[in-house]
Amino acid sequence: MNIRPFALERYFDEQEELSAQYLLSASDPETLRMDALLALADEESFRLWRNLSLGYTESQGHLLLRKEVSNLYNDAITPEKVLVCTPEEGIFIAMHALLNPGDDMIVASPCYQSLYEIARYMGCTIGWWVPNPVTWRFNPGELPLLKQGTLKLLVFNFPHNPTGALPSRREFDEIIMFARKNDAYIFSDEMYRFLEYDPSKRLPSVSEVYEKGISLCGMSKIFGFPGLRIGWLTAQDKVVFQRLVRFKDYTTICSSAPSEILALMGLRKRDLIVRHNLEIIEKNLNRWHEFCRIRPGLFSEENPAAGTVIFPRLNSDISIDELCADLHRTKNALLVPASKFHWGGNRFRIGLGRINFPEALAVFEEFLRERQMI
Ligand SMILES: Cc1ncc(COP(=O)(O)O)c(C=O)c1O
Repeated sequence: MNIRPFALERYFDEQEELSAQYLLSASDPETLRMDALLALADEESFRLWRNLSLGYTESQGHLLLRKEVSNLYNDAITPEKVLVCTPEEGIFIAMHALLNPGDDMIVASPCYQSLYEIARYMGCTIGWWVPNPVTWRFNPGELPLLKQGTLKLLVFNFPHNPTGALPSRREFDEIIMFARKNDAYIFSDEMYRFLEYDPSKRLPSVSEVYEKGISLCGMSKIFGFPGLRIGWLTAQDKVVFQRLVRFKDYTTICSSAPSEILALMGLRKRDLIVRHNLEIIEKNLNRWHEFCRIRPGLFSEENPAAGTVIFPRLNSDISIDELCADLHRTKNALLVPASKFHWGGNRFRIGLGRINFPEALAVFEEFLRERQMI
């Protein structure tokens, strides 16, 4: 198999992400401890937890979990249209269920690498939909120009990792209209949905409004539970949905029994957990803006609309890759350069979801002062 290494995941692994003292680029928000989650649990899910046996689980996902998931969507998404899986697995499954070698697709870029890499190694042709480099606006008007043949699939991730961009409702409708006109599928990565800073800007899930839409969501980025490895795919198209379900037989067969129940507990307390995460993100974004004022112009101004991450530019001759390596070596602080997204422009990702962000920023400031950059 000649799939290219996943640059971001390899980087985290090689830099020993989990032992780094300061994570400046994490895309998952602060997680809860197990005892805190159990203390929040409602009676029914706590009982399920206490009586849990560790056998195989229902391939499509625990019915109560799928019911709870379907409450996140409108009536178009019933529990029968939810497939529980690991988020990364969901991308793998969907690409294999939808694509054949030689298929034509469009991918919004920069993005999480598996959103294009799997299709690429399968032999698909990719047109890149890139945003305005200052506003990060993805212009739906450009989509027709990116088609190279019969369009099979359009892939995007809004709210967007790594820029925090979110199209307007009108732009979203234009995107759907374009896909419908071309009879193309949409794979919509909605891993950061519900983290809109202004909830009125929340877009519908593509799987709710588009008959050929497949949406991905999960517990990692919204709730801060990436260790559960629980997410889900939703789709209205029965044939496609069956293909997704059947493909899972070749990946994990069924999901982890304890993780499903813990996900159920988290989902049932979603308002509390998501509000808490958004409060941290909002405070940290303000701290980032204050930090940038120490030396105006050193970093580009970023105004994200949603999610846990931003993608500022370092306005300096110093290469961001070199700076990140030095920061890690000298301060045990991890910062991800844009090259790990196969992107240039001396940019880097900042993660806003962690409680120790102010401390991590103080270390970054000290580092920049030592290098006489501020
Ligand atoms: C946009 C996006 N999609 C999917 C994933 C995969 O999620 P998980 O790590 O929970 O499998 C990530 C993780 O960073 C992501 O940022």
